[in-house]
Amino acid sequence: MLSTTTLIVLAVSGIAVLVFRRNRLRPLPPGPPGWPIIGNLFDLQQEYPWITYSNWSKTYGNIIFLRALTTPMVIVSSAEIAFDLIDKRSAIYSSRPTSVVDEMTGWGFSLSLTPYGQRWRNVRRITHEYLHQMVTPNYRDKQTKHIRAFLRQCLGDTGRQCNSELIPATVFDIVYGITIKDMDDDYVKTVIEALEVVEETKVPGKYWVDFMPLLKYVPQWVPGAAFVKFAARSRPVVEEMLNKPFDAVREGKTVNDSIALSMLAKIELQPDIKKREEEEMYARYATGTLYSGAVETTFSLLQTFFCGMAMRPDIQQRARQELDSVVGPERLPTYDDKDRLPYVQAIYMECLRWMTTIPLGVPHSVTQDDYYNGYFIPSGTIIIPNAWHMLHNPEDYPEPDKFNPDRFIKDGAINPAIRDPATIAFGFGRRHFAKDTAFLVIASILHAFDVKPSIDENGNELDPTPQLHGSLVSFPSPLNYRLISRSEAAEKLVRTTEL
Ligand code: HEM
Ligand SMILES: *[C@@H]1O[C@H](CO)[C@@H](O)[C@H](O)[C@H]1NC(C)=O
Ligand SMILES: *[C@@H]1O[C@H](CO)[C@@H](O)[C@H](O)[C@H]1NC(C)=O
Repeated sequence: MLSTTTLIVLAVSGIAVLVFRRNRLRPLPPGPPGWPIIGNLFDLQQEYPWITYSNWSKTYGNIIFLRALTTPMVIVSSAEIAFDLIDKRSAIYSSRPTSVVDEMTGWGFSLSLTPYGQRWRNVRRITHEYLHQMVTPNYRDKQTKHIRAFLRQCLGDTGRQCNSELIPATVFDIVYGITIKDMDDDYVKTVIEALEVVEETKVPGKYWVDFMPLLKYVPQWVPGAAFVKFAARSRPVVEEMLNKPFDAVREGKTVNDSIALSMLAKIELQPDIKKREEEEMYARYATGTLYSGAVETTFSLLQTFFCGMAMRPDIQQRARQELDSVVGPERLPTYDDKDRLPYVQAIYMECLRWMTTIPLGVPHSVTQDDYYNGYFIPSGTIIIPNAWHMLHNPEDYPEPDKFNPDRFIKDGAINPAIRDPATIAFGFGRRHFAKDTAFLVIASILHAFDVKPSIDENGNELDPTPQLHGSLVSFPSPLNYRLISRSEAAEKLVRTTEL
């Protein structure tokens, strides 16, 4: 059997080589040379792929072609090119790579991982229909309530970090109307486990079958015994994450106001049973997309904030001066203060830039043969925007590895001449609805707490400087910070502010 497999691989690769042979009439973008058959598969496998790919751009330019087995890929390293393709040509660049791996683990439900087609159209329609709810006053009230509860939990507990229930609690409340008690809550444990599954499978180049879709027809290749077991173990967890909270709402176990509840109320009006079931499935996927897209990203961004603050007491000092004069000691900050807090905004922007939460963006896929600057981009090419590289380009952001919010400030205001990292960090194209969700957490922490480096058992301060680790969503680590109340007055303010 193995020889059959080998023959098929060779045959398929033969086709691939023919298809992607560099051709004078249809010149592919430049890129690392790669090997026969496997192409650049091993080149993709890197511990910090965003740095390796960034280095390649110095040799090959801002648009790099690779081939992983039979799948063509393009890595884009310039924000202008990413906008030209993903935004201006969105009609053919908005699909996502087809992934056998995602279908096997159950993660294929997510809009961010769904190729064009009926499911994509329907889940996208519903997700976008309810997205505005994530930023309405109702949402802000819920978020503010959870932030204030979180601040109270941080009091007194001087070693506390942000690995708290703040984000899952907020998101579960908004999406499902469910109250999370703590990190041991079964709902939260399931989400964490399911997110580990997607992170494991998104390590670039790790699961070959995704780069050779025909392999799925060769049973023992699908896609290696270890992965089959992993997928079989993972799938129930992913399904539980998707179904359990949604079913709790559907069965009336939770009646609190939520996105899922509004979706279901609307679906109930559909007279056709078959259509109703279909709509319900899409609503399930849409709610799953919303909260799986929100939890890890926001968590990572806040960890970056805490690390940056622990490194730079001088920056905290300046932010506090701004907060003291705009918000004052009598109350906690609110969303309405945002426009009058440019320095806090600059901190937020620098966090988005510095430890890029999704360093290689969310891969897109092109659904039609295309040309860009004379280069041929074949239909089916996976487009990887190297957001990390764009946000660490010294021409746009001098001394890019330095945490420096002042780069965004000119004459006491946000300098519009410096590119807002949000235009890159949240994908290219239409504005991301959740762009400002972490702002109030950042402002509230700065208003009431000191962020300091943590200390070892001998009382020595640990170095809070982090490094970025991960695959799809990445995280700073180590986390050597702790929170301490800023003053007795601040502590009292936190204790007495309910909403
Ligand atoms: C630091 C925070 C966040 C970052 C850096 C981030 C980043 C991204 C990126 C890069 C994409 C892919 C865009 C594209 O290429 O098409 C995306 C899509 C998405 N994000 Fe976020 N996100 C964050 C927070 C959130 C939050 C809080 C929510 C939910 C409330 C959310 C929900 C979504 C959804 C639903 C999509 C899919 C939209 C679509 O495909 O049409 N994200 N996000
Ligand atoms: C990238 O290039 C820099 C500077 O040339 C080098 O120090 C670093 O090791 C390279 N990193 C990777 C992962 O290739
Ligand atoms: C509904 O909300 C209230 C308060 O906002 C909370 O006490 C209750 O536990 C919530 N219900 C559920 C099922 O989570």
